[in-house]
Amino acid sequence: MAAIPSVKLAGEETAMPVIGMGTASFPAAGLEATKAAVLEAIKAGYRHFDTAFAYGSEKALGEAVAEALRLGLVESRSDLFITTKLWASFSGPGQVVPACKMSLQNLKLEYVDMYLIHWPVRMTEMVWKTPVPEELVQSLDMKVVWEGMEECVNLGLTKRIGVSNFSCNFLDQILSIAKIPPAVNQVEMNPFWQQKKLRDFCKEKGIHITAYSPLGANNTKWGDNRILGNDVLADIAKSMGKTTAQVALRWVYEQGVSIASKSFNKERMRQNLEIFDWCLSEEDLDKISQLPQTKGVTLAAVLGPHPLVLEIDASL
Ligand code: A2P
Repeated sequence: MAAIPSVKLAGEETAMPVIGMGTASFPAAGLEATKAAVLEAIKAGYRHFDTAFAYGSEKALGEAVAEALRLGLVESRSDLFITTKLWASFSGPGQVVPACKMSLQNLKLEYVDMYLIHWPVRMTEMVWKTPVPEELVQSLDMKVVWEGMEECVNLGLTKRIGVSNFSCNFLDQILSIAKIPPAVNQVEMNPFWQQKKLRDFCKEKGIHITAYSPLGANNTKWGDNRILGNDVLADIAKSMGKTTAQVALRWVYEQGVSIASKSFNKERMRQNLEIFDWCLSEEDLDKISQLPQTKGVTLAAVLGPHPLVLEIDASL
């Protein structure tokens, strides 16, 4: 396997592995299966793991990390890059630091490498079912939530902070008040949702993009097979002796973007790392640039089609 490259994040030399293993599964795989998949991923060479309070996978990831350290699969905690995310119900005044501590408790870690605001929205109560009652869904007070995020850095609970699902407009709001700017914006990105405008904006502002759903989250409630079942990508893959998934992941990587991709299957998770010692031709890149664009993941699917939620979806 070719070595996994790293990305430098704004203003620092330490690096984030360019591909991370996503831990959100549908239907939820459960603690033991998630833990086993993470251990398998560590054996395969993954060092970057992506979780969130809302995925319910923090505990499994934490147990797998502890086990990997016990087994000597990794030498020290600092060899791993762990991202987790602040859920929308914890973004009010005084809630961010306790939420980060709760995630650390789930993970049984002293710090995470990256803490992201999961969505640019606030819920005034924790509700697990969809749709969330409309009166619980509010605009995010950026100053309140970002000061809380910065406090997490100052307390040593996270090495870095960032956001997820943020449009250029939401990023501008954060940048106008930030003492610590967001290092990362994690968004849906793949050949069918290429995010050109957002990528240009983030490049200019020094914010690194991580792509989630790089394979279209096939077989989940929020995804489909428009990538893995696409003929253009399949033809490119065939001509190169690669798989369609590898072509999609390689395309993301070639855009200077890092990847959070989920596979709990031993062969496929290994296959997804085999993308660093070959490249797509100009002709193939041109074909991919012409693919029709459709967004897959919506906040409305998570919270319900409320006016504020639809407004946020339209901005992303
Ligand atoms: P599995 O875990 O069974 O491998 P995304 O990364 O866009 O969220 O997509 C994740 C989905 O794609 C999961 O259903 C995962 O299933 C599947 N997947 C991951 N890697 C591959 C691959 N190399 N080939 C086919 N399907 C894949």
